[in-house]
This record gives sequence, structure tokens and C-alpha cells, in this order.
Amino acid sequence: MRVCARFRIARLKGGIEMSVRAAHPSESSTVFRVLTEIAPEIPLRLDNEERQRRIRELVDAACASQMSWVSLDDSDNVVGFLFGRTRSTDTRGMEFSGMELLYGGVLPAHRGCGRFSNLLTEAKKFKTPLWAVVKRANTSAMAERLLKYGFAKQAVSVRSDEDTFVWTP
Ligand SMILES: CC(C)(COP(=O)(O)OP(=O)(O)OC[C@H]1O[C@@H](n2cnc3c(N)ncnc32)[C@H](O)[C@@H]1OP(=O)(O)O)[C@@H](O)C(=O)NCCC(=O)NCCS
Repeated sequence: MRVCARFRIARLKGGIEMSVRAAHPSESSTVFRVLTEIAPEIPLRLDNEERQRRIRELVDAACASQMSWVSLDDSDNVVGFLFGRTRSTDTRGMEFSGMELLYGGVLPAHRGCGRFSNLLTEAKKFKTPLWAVVKRANTSAMAERLLKYGFAKQAVSVRSDEDTFVWTP
């Protein structure tokens, strides 16, 4: 069965068993709830129905792809996620072909245990370049974390309030 075949213990840290596996289409409501809780830290605005609808569609697509992962607690509840999708652009100065990391996060009660590191490891296993855009207003030091994970900050970004990072296998 797909669920069991893809399921595995990713790392044991501080005595807590942490599991990570591909997201399933059936859990997109749960993942959307997790994203809604951490949205202010990204920051991601979900303050009207149109924005919520657009992001919900993005979550549905992510959970149906084979490029998104969830982190589970020991009761198999989703407590974190990372969305990836194929990105290919030949825009001058921003040429890229690989996987874009869209949104990722871990519920506050489950942070600092390596869950996000494990999710990122899943993306790196594709052995394709990774692209991530981080808003300067991010409150979780995501830019610094990506540098620590081997990403390189790019000279240009599409918007002035964000930075782009690329990891090359
Ligand atoms: C950012 C976030 C995903 C981290 O999740 P987490 O599961 O607590 O992260 P981890 O436990 O895997 O991170 C621990 C690692 O980060 C490192 N780290 C922690 N703070 C850091 C900082 N300020 N700068 C650099 N590295 C840092 C730790 O040294 C540790 O490294 P190790 O795994 O090699 O020991 C979480 O805080 C979050 O959900 N924030 C809100 C959402 C968000 O901002 N998402 C990103 C934009 S889409």
C-alpha cells in the first residue's frame, strides 16, 4: 500500500521519533489548517475569501503531487509540511530548472526537533536544484536557515521585499 511503503522514520532526535512521508490528497484540509496557523510568520496573508481560496487550491495541488511532504507526530497527526513543484524559467538573470519550494512550516509545539531539516532532506533527495523565495518579513530566520542548509542567495529577486535562494546538488 502506498501509505505504508512511503512511510519511514526519518530521524530520532532528543528521544522523539519523527516521521516524514509524501503528502496525500486526502489530508489537504489538515495541511491547510497547519498552514493557516503559521501563515503570519511566513508571512502569508489569508485575510479574505479570495486569498484563502487561492491558497487552498495550491495546497490541494501540492498534496496531490509527489513533491510535497508532511511531518507526523507519534499519533500520525500532521504537524509540519513542505511543498515543492517543478519550476523552469529562462527569464534573463533568473534562469532555473528544478524544484521550487513554495511553503513549509512546523507547528510551534513541534519545533526545534529537526522536523524541517527532515522535510528539506526529502526535497534534496530529488537531486535537482531547489529554488526558494523568502520574504524579508519572515519571522523564523528562514533566510539564515537556508544558507546553513547550503543554499546560495541570488543576486536578483522578482520582488524587492523578498530574497531568492538556490541549492544545487
Ligand atoms: C522555520 C521552521 C519551519 C523551522 O522548523 P523546525 O522544525 O523548528 O526546524 P528544525 O528543527 O528542523 O531546525 C533546526 C535547525 O535549524 C537551525 N537553526 C535554528 N535557528 C536558526 C537560525 N536563526 N539561523 C540558522 N539556523 C538556525 C538549528 O541549528 C537546527 O540545525 P540542525 O538541524 O542542523 O541541528 C518553523 O520555525 C516554522 O514553521 N516557522 C513559520 C513558518 C515559516 O517561516 N516558514 C518558512 C517560509 S515558507
